[in-house]
Amino acid sequence: MARNHLILSILLLFSALTASESDQYFSKKISPSSLGLKKEKLTHLHFYFHDIVTAKNPTAVEVAEAAMTNTSSTHFGAVLVMDDPLTVSPDVNSKMVGRAQGIYASASQSEIGFLMVLNFAFMEGKFNGSNLSVLGRNAIFSGVREMPIVGGSGVFRFSRGYAQAKTHTIDLQTNNAVVEYNVYVFHH
Ligand SMILES: *[C@@H]1O[C@H](CO)[C@@H](O)[C@H](O)[C@H]1NC(C)=O
Ligand SMILES: *[C@@H]1O[C@H](CO)[C@@H](O)[C@H](O)[C@H]1NC(C)=O
Ligand SMILES: *[C@@H]1O[C@H](CO)[C@@H](O)[C@H](O)[C@H]1NC(C)=O
Repeated sequence: MARNHLILSILLLFSALTASESDQYFSKKISPSSLGLKKEKLTHLHFYFHDIVTAKNPTAVEVAEAAMTNTSSTHFGAVLVMDDPLTVSPDVNSKMVGRAQGIYASASQSEIGFLMVLNFAFMEGKFNGSNLSVLGRNAIFSGVREMPIVGGSGVFRFSRGYAQAKTHTIDLQTNNAVVEYNVYVFHH
């Protein structure tokens, strides 16, 4: 009897241990193939970004500013939210490949320099439904601005890279701008 008890106790303890190992774990090593990851590739994306501030239907709107923002030559403290179309050519009516959704804030007191925090939400070809996240500094009157790609989703899981932005046209009356983007991204 006592022996049977001992065996039963050992069996229970063993199953409790194996259950805790299989059902509850905080971390374990896995292989990249278990997530279906293929060899890393490098992709170049090219598109035009339309930041329409002044229009009946603007794509970027100011949501906040400091009391002193209107006295600052760099509009320091202004925060805008954008949902800007991304198209294949500088013409806003050309084929749309995605949207740039996020925030930019005037964060420099010596030049117009924005903190950019945004997602590119793509809607074209194999990138449809995948997103890239950008976090960078954008001094809009410099030639080419470079901003890091800090990650992504969908086909862009585990991605990293950089985006180069170059102003194509800017209307200083309306502040509406068309910006050419070249994005270089590693992904699987
Ligand atoms: C700036 O805006 C404040 C309100 O936030 C207002 O009181 C002030 O007169 C404005 N200053 C200028 C120079 O427009
Ligand atoms: C992108 O995906 C959405 C939803 O899956 C679909 O409705 C749309 O037609 C697709 N667009 C393109 C250009 O493939
Ligand atoms: C990408 O962002 C869109 C919203 O723009 C979202 O619906 C979609 O689920 C995101 N894609 C992935 C793969 O997370």
